[in-house]
Amino acid sequence: MSKRTENYLEKRKILVDKALEKFMPKPSNLAGDVIRAMHYTLFAGGKRIRPVLCIAGAEAVGGSADGVLPVACALELIHSYSLIHDDLPALDNDDFRRGKPTNHKVFGEAVALLAGDGLLTLAFTLMARYGLEKRVDKEALLRVIDLIASAAGYKGMVGGQVADISYEGKDPDPSVVEYIHTHKTGALIAASVTAGTILAGGNEEEIQSISRYGQHVGLAFQIADDILNIEGNRDVIGKGIGGDKQRGKTTYPSVFGITKSKDIQNELVDRAIEALNRFDKRAEPLRDLARYIIRRRS
Ligand code: IPE
Ligand code: IPE
Ligand code: MG
Ligand code: MG
Repeated sequence: MSKRTENYLEKRKILVDKALEKFMPKPSNLAGDVIRAMHYTLFAGGKRIRPVLCIAGAEAVGGSADGVLPVACALELIHSYSLIHDDLPALDNDDFRRGKPTNHKVFGEAVALLAGDGLLTLAFTLMARYGLEKRVDKEALLRVIDLIASAAGYKGMVGGQVADISYEGKDPDPSVVEYIHTHKTGALIAASVTAGTILAGGNEEEIQSISRYGQHVGLAFQIADDILNIEGNRDVIGKGIGGDKQRGKTTYPSVFGITKSKDIQNELVDRAIEALNRFDKRAEPLRDLARYIIRRRS
């Protein structure tokens, strides 16, 4: 990762982490167990890519991190919920995540399931409160909430996750793998960056271009995840490797092989950067992030 991307990511990540601390409830009364479980995964050391993309999507059209932080945090809550559920024995049955034992390994399956539910619903509380308590363009915020809900739900991530599970052990199929990846991962990533641009008052053309950028980057991100599951270093990525092959997952490497998967990734990043043609240097962080997404080691 270039020094410039590293600095950008680090600075925005600090803002996001501080805001998440502020928004998260403290463990109290009888709900304490689930709140502790929510904290556990949320602060276990995620890269915060989705919130950072949301901020970068706002900055690309002249907005600021401050104006999108509640939405950026909501995206991280939704993502963290999806990881907790993804690791459950009923789905991927994984033992390590973000360098620690997975949520259900520590808190048990029932609490892990509920911690996911708690994070998902808290995300929508954050966004609704933002509209109720702050001076913000309500129309834009509603559009963003709608976009994020669709991206997280059956038309997006939930749909992708169910296809991911149903295609375990089946023959590799190019059209299926594209559906799985664009839905289980691409949709929320595309929504993250687009939400930032919408909230920051980007015009329709800008919103469409950023959305295209997000779709390409979102798919490239999941292909990188597939490749890391084969070539990655467990200590660096903080989660198990080899699980995809073991479970017969439909992935880009299983369908196209590693070399072709890397070519597809590069092509997607080129197309993502091309989608930003009309943007000035304020979109430079987005260009850097697109390159980082396929070069990352974790
Ligand atoms: C992992 O996402 C799961 C996928 C959707 C590929 P990240 O690689 O963003 O995980 P964290 O948030 O950094 O742990
Ligand atoms: C994760 O996909 C997608 C979601 C959590 C929605 P994977 O199952 O491929 O991701 P990792 O490798 O466990 O992080
Ligand atoms: Mg999975
Ligand atoms: Mg998984």
